[in-house]
Amino acid sequence: MRNKYAVIIICIVALVIIEKENNIISRVSNKLTLRRNPHTPEPLGPYNASDSLIESENSFNYIDDFYSENGTQAGRKHVLLMATTRTGSSFVGEFFNQQGDNMFYLFEPLWHVERMLSAGSIGTNSSTSVWVYRDVLQHLFLCNFSMLERFIKPPPRDHVTHSLFRRESSKALCEEQVCSPFVRDVFERYHCKTRRCGPLNLTLASEACLRKQHRVIKTVRVRQLDTLRALIEDSRLDFKLIQLVRDPRAILASRMVAFAGKYQNWKSWAMNGEVPIEDEEVKRLEGNCNNIRISAKLGLSQPKWLKKRYMLVRYEDIARYPMQKAAEMYNFTGIPMTSQARDWIFRNTHASTEASGVYSTQKNSSEQVEKWRLSIPFKLAQVVQKVCGPTMKLFGYRFVDSEQTLLNKSFSLLEEKEFLKL
Ligand SMILES: *[C@@H]1O[C@H](CO)[C@@H](O)[C@H](O)[C@H]1NC(C)=O
Ligand SMILES: *[C@@H]1O[C@H](CO)[C@@H](O)[C@H](O)[C@H]1NC(C)=O
Ligand SMILES: *[C@@H]1O[C@H](CO)[C@@H](O)[C@H](O)[C@H]1NC(C)=O
Ligand SMILES: *[C@@H]1O[C@H](CO)[C@@H](O)[C@H](O)[C@H]1NC(C)=O
Ligand SMILES: *[C@@H]1O[C@H](CO)[C@@H](O)[C@H](O)[C@H]1NC(C)=O
Ligand SMILES: *[C@@H]1O[C@H](CO)[C@@H](O)[C@H](O)[C@H]1NC(C)=O
Ligand SMILES: *[C@@H]1O[C@H](CO)[C@@H](O)[C@H](O)[C@H]1NC(C)=O
Ligand SMILES: *[C@@H]1O[C@H](CO)[C@@H](O)[C@H](O)[C@H]1NC(C)=O
Repeated sequence: MRNKYAVIIICIVALVIIEKENNIISRVSNKLTLRRNPHTPEPLGPYNASDSLIESENSFNYIDDFYSENGTQAGRKHVLLMATTRTGSSFVGEFFNQQGDNMFYLFEPLWHVERMLSAGSIGTNSSTSVWVYRDVLQHLFLCNFSMLERFIKPPPRDHVTHSLFRRESSKALCEEQVCSPFVRDVFERYHCKTRRCGPLNLTLASEACLRKQHRVIKTVRVRQLDTLRALIEDSRLDFKLIQLVRDPRAILASRMVAFAGKYQNWKSWAMNGEVPIEDEEVKRLEGNCNNIRISAKLGLSQPKWLKKRYMLVRYEDIARYPMQKAAEMYNFTGIPMTSQARDWIFRNTHASTEASGVYSTQKNSSEQVEKWRLSIPFKLAQVVQKVCGPTMKLFGYRFVDSEQTLLNKSFSLLEEKEFLKL
């Protein structure tokens, strides 16, 4: 046990040292990768691919038109950042969270839903959970917290909670109007960092949400785009969806570091012998890749209900050109990019002057983004290529056929690729 901690500490120290030596791009990519929140659990277990194919609309009840909103009319935008873990979605979420006074941003509200559903305390199964996710998102985009409240543990009292997941990650939930008087002796795990606030009054949160011009929600818990169709088509919302993807080999490499305990099997496969391609964990990887690909293909095929509403962004492009990509994302959503957002991105992507090689070339940049190549055993890279091949092809991630190529820094694994011309 003690050894285990020692190894972890050594790893952290090593990472810190590496971080110190990094230049501009690796700073970004470190932000994208290493900013792991210890409270963020892994997503739910094996996802049953047939779930999303179930044409069940019955659990979905349209909410009455309670706010008589007119999203389009008011120029109000509703943006969903749809990602999987280790794709830098928290960092990209900040691009919007930092927009300023007109933004209502929520960080992973579905965390509560997933946790309660997986605890089995509500009579439902994973095929119904996709509809629950959709309905909760819909309520939240309309500033109605009542459905989410049912999933918060312990249950809010009088719509007041001290345990909204990562409240402090949402600037709007820590602004003055939402900040109830500070209460001593109430333990709040997710308390505001910018000011001392009491527990979160969700009525105030809802009012703040209604005051704001735009609403953005980030989630890593929606597996398939098609399950959101009714939400995207809701006429009260001017909906935009940004799907964030990353090289699945890099994701695996990153997860093996971040969630080391869960990847013991992979480590032992890499060390000795064959990777059992029929293993449940490999199947899960394959399932995840398939979900991502199916969602992206649907988005890129631009069916009528997604036209001008879908954008695909690669992690690697954000890491290499953060400002440009942020501007493109803002432009796509139709939300004006503020100088606050621009400043934040600048501050968080530019190395301090004392760092060496501040303005690296693009080629070097790609190298930085591809650092994971040094940490993933070739055998595992091969497995990913095998089960995630079609996904990698779609997004323009090149295959390697030998360990030498994997480690060859002049061989870029990234094709320059334009997805939809928006
Ligand atoms: C997925 O769900 C279907 C029907 O709900 C079931 O027949 C199938 O065995 C499930 N597959 C897995 C891998 O759980
Ligand atoms: C919020 O949603 C709940 C559940 O759908 C609904 O009963 C309630 O009327 C909504 N609140 C408002 C203010 O419309
Ligand atoms: C909302 O917009 C539609 C068309 O864009 C319009 O017909 C309707 O009257 C508007 N409703 C309200 C409450 O403003
Ligand atoms: C999940 O729930 C749906 C409807 O509630 C039901 O039809 C289906 O059989 C359930 N699936 C499993 C695997 O229990
Ligand atoms: C929460 O805020 C609302 C709106 O200001 C207020 O009416 C309500 O009393 C507050 N709830 C509590 C428990 O303080
Ligand atoms: C997005 O970019 C296009 C072309 O570059 C420009 O015409 C348009 O005004 C921009 N939209 C926003 C909302 O910034
Ligand atoms: C990285 O950039 C530096 C300076 O711009 C250059 O000298 C070096 O050759 C580049 N490295 C590679 C592998 O291209
Ligand atoms: C590395 O890749 C480059 C570009 O594909 C190639 O020209 C070079 O021969 C490779 N080096 C080795 C040692 O394989």
